[in-house]
Amino acid sequence: MTLPTFNYMEVVYLIATALFILSLKWMSAPTTARRGVWAGEVGMLLAIVGTLFEKGIIDYHWIFIALVLGTIIGVPLGRVAMTAVPQRTALSHAFGACCVTLVGTAEFYLRSPNVPKFMMAVLCLEVILGGLTFTGSLMAAGKLQEVLPQRPITYKGQNLVNLALLAVAIVVGIVLILHPEHKNLFPAMVGIALVFGVLLIIPIGGADMPTVISLLNSYAGLSAAAMGFVLNSKLLIVAGALDGSSGFILSVIMCKAMNRSFANVIFGAFGQVQAAAAAGGEAKTVRSATAEEAAAILGAASSVVIVPGYGMAVAQAQHKVRELFDVLTKKGVDVRFGIHPVAGRMPGHMNVLLAEADIPYDRLKEMDDVNSDLPQTDVALIIGANDVTNPAARTDTSSPIYGMPIIDVDKARTVMVIKRSMNPGFAGIDNPLYYLDQTLMLFGDAKAFVGDIVRELSGSGGH
Ligand code: TAP
Repeated sequence: MTLPTFNYMEVVYLIATALFILSLKWMSAPTTARRGVWAGEVGMLLAIVGTLFEKGIIDYHWIFIALVLGTIIGVPLGRVAMTAVPQRTALSHAFGACCVTLVGTAEFYLRSPNVPKFMMAVLCLEVILGGLTFTGSLMAAGKLQEVLPQRPITYKGQNLVNLALLAVAIVVGIVLILHPEHKNLFPAMVGIALVFGVLLIIPIGGADMPTVISLLNSYAGLSAAAMGFVLNSKLLIVAGALDGSSGFILSVIMCKAMNRSFANVIFGAFGQVQAAAAAGGEAKTVRSATAEEAAAILGAASSVVIVPGYGMAVAQAQHKVRELFDVLTKKGVDVRFGIHPVAGRMPGHMNVLLAEADIPYDRLKEMDDVNSDLPQTDVALIIGANDVTNPAARTDTSSPIYGMPIIDVDKARTVMVIKRSMNPGFAGIDNPLYYLDQTLMLFGDAKAFVGDIVRELSGSGGH
């Protein structure tokens, strides 16, 4: 009796798949996130090494060149500043999608004209999704890096033109499925997908880019899964499906946190109206305070909720914030952090920064939890956050962010806001919070101002 031969490759791929699933699971909580990253990395290493041992490979020259090129591009990409992570992520999607499109194109010309209908359908899906994700992600990265204009560029009938273009690409795909001998249609289909990617992103404002990036992430995943069918790789199918579904779930979470629909994000040209809204408005007065006064108020409080935002990331103030947390906690003040799901510019932005500064996880409260505590809170200290604390989202039906859930800092007894000026946040709108009687503006860079408060508190006695 002969025993079936043991396929080591299948086992390696199975372990990689399990690690990808565990990685996603672990990355969903701050306490296990590091382990999640490790699991993902080891899974990817296994997948790559496993692929290098594939029997089909007859020449390693090109693979070696690609590995060297990938390393040369990848290492500096891994070292970008935290604030540049969204555009870096968009670039990664662009590379992945470019690869998917190129592989799909190569497979088409290798197999054509004898491509079975199912295979041709999957190939078309692969290159359409891959092509639009490639150029769309490049556009998204350009907008976030501000090498392209952030504001939405719109014209009459734009959505119709875009949808018509996508429809043409799909029709060309259907013709190819039915008549694979029309080889010349293939480059046309890829070209339309590439143009569609650019046109899809042009009308979307910079503020919506993180959501769009995670949607593009989901497209990149789906195109990779389609490539898995073409290459008959179970690992690619599973990894692509995981990528596609997690990207989609993330976009849904972000849309919910902003109280926006997908259609509104993609077709709403958000970011245009707001700029106009910010330009108008009568002059109103605000009250400002010094670090010394702020320290006195904080030192006398029994409960403080700190609400960090994008400005904390820009100023890299998280370590100073940790010092503030320490000094206040030592004085017996109950300090918690209110984390809005879309504070900053990427999901989990604040969690990552505060974890970097070793702030205990149990002090980080989600929006709903902290909102129920705010009416009993002495001081809400906002550090570089703006839109996520804007009460207009709750009260002003004409506001472009009306309906977006916010952290109800205006319900605290005293509100203090650290920011450099009266400039608006990313949505480009004024914040009525700043004109309330209980609000004090602390004008300055977040890192420097928090540092000054810590110095004042450390110098003064107990409360
Ligand atoms: P923003 O509303 O963008 O406000 C950030 C504030 O930080 C600005 O008003 C700015 O005011 C201040 N700032 C900038 N640099 C600073 C520095 N060095 N020191 C002190 N303050 C500084 O941020 P947010 O409240 O975190 O809201 C996030 C926005 O991004 C929302 O509109 C959200 O919808 C959008 N968004 C986020 C995501 C994700 S996933 N996070 C996704 C899509 C959209 P000054 O210039 O006056 O200093």
